[in-house]
Amino acid sequence: MAKLFIEGGRKLKGEVKLQGAKNSALPILAATVLTADESVLHNCPCLTDTETSIKILRCLGAKVNRHGHTLVVNTKDISSDSISDSLMRQMRSSIVFLGAILGRCGRAKLSFPGGCELGPRPIDLHLEALRQMGTEITEHHGELVCCAPKGLNGTKISLSFPSVGATENIMLAATLAKGTTVITNAAREPEIEDLADYLNKCGACIYGAGEGTIVIEGREELHGTSHNIIPDRIVAATLMSAAAVTGSDIVLKDVIPSHLSAVIPVFEEAGCSVSVKEGIMNIECPERPKAWSLTRTTPYPGFPTDAQAPLMAMATIAKGTTVFVENVFESRYKHIGEFLRLGANVKTVGKVAVVQGVEKLYSSSLQAQDLRGSAALVVAALSAQGVAEIDTTKYLDRGYEDFDGVLLSLGAKIQKI
Ligand code: UD1
Repeated sequence: MAKLFIEGGRKLKGEVKLQGAKNSALPILAATVLTADESVLHNCPCLTDTETSIKILRCLGAKVNRHGHTLVVNTKDISSDSISDSLMRQMRSSIVFLGAILGRCGRAKLSFPGGCELGPRPIDLHLEALRQMGTEITEHHGELVCCAPKGLNGTKISLSFPSVGATENIMLAATLAKGTTVITNAAREPEIEDLADYLNKCGACIYGAGEGTIVIEGREELHGTSHNIIPDRIVAATLMSAAAVTGSDIVLKDVIPSHLSAVIPVFEEAGCSVSVKEGIMNIECPERPKAWSLTRTTPYPGFPTDAQAPLMAMATIAKGTTVFVENVFESRYKHIGEFLRLGANVKTVGKVAVVQGVEKLYSSSLQAQDLRGSAALVVAALSAQGVAEIDTTKYLDRGYEDFDGVLLSLGAKIQKI
């Protein structure tokens, strides 16, 4: 098992081109199942989660070849409608294959997905919507046997919460369904728009992605296409936090500023100067950030729950007190226990965390417990005095491509052993 050793207190300098977004790449890889053709996906990050999607595609009968960050996926010969429990358990996103396989084959057999433990992560909204579209689902000892004997039918689906995964699953199932599907209270994340862009290039008919109501007119068939995955806004927020905790100036390339509209103002309130021109972000940070008033996580376009942990790392050393309210997941504060080991001052009551910034963190041995929390531990360690040892790679490599290499290129003292 690999560990990261980080000697904190070094300033960062240089440029980084953002990787492609994990949360776009995963549903788009699932969507290729709907095409029975070849898709070429550019800017696809090299992560353990994308590798899991590739393994699932191959088990279904697809041919997948990687050339650097370009994946060529040929789904002509899909021969299976089942995903094994061991693959399903490797990540939460395995569940978006359900809508795609149902759309292509009219039936699917898989189990409940795994993924980071952020509290209960039910899939009731996914299953209820697919039932409304004509799917019969039997659950038996964690296995889901799904079948649409009369085909999938478009219908009106109103989500009680704008779930990202449920919105994606419905879009995937609706693309080849009979008639029109209307999703209200749909998730509006940029990754939803990216999925719709890919599917529309394949011949699908999806309107309104990125808004609260999405309309999908079912099509007979789709064809292949080529598509560029959007840049990863959460990796951007993480690197911005790394710059802020080290009082550094760095440059991020391939940034879409509108995707960070809830994040950039927090850095500005913390005293950083942020400018973005033609996709190039310059962030210049003071020696020590200022605390900011409040960060409440909410579905997009609100502050992203995935950026909560990295920004909390910044709050631990900020001048003053910052309050966080985590509204999306029940149990997304596991990094706080590790921050305390570094000397941070954080108190939690339910979904509220109050962070009283300290002047310095002191290194310690740390254990990551989820993907974004592990990135937050790396950010905190970059500012801490001494050498921190972080057992993180199992999680970090799921979402951050070569993160130690990226930080090394910016001048951090970091080693993976
Ligand atoms: C996606 C992202 C994840 C991000 C999250 C919220 C991917 C691969 N992952 O996860 O990084 O943190 O959106 O922005 O894109 N819920 C239910 N029932 C359901 C589905 C969801 O109660 O059927 C609840 C969840 O428990 C959670 C909330 O809705 O409390 C948000 O979940 P959802 O938007 O579905 O997140 P994911 O798609 O799992």
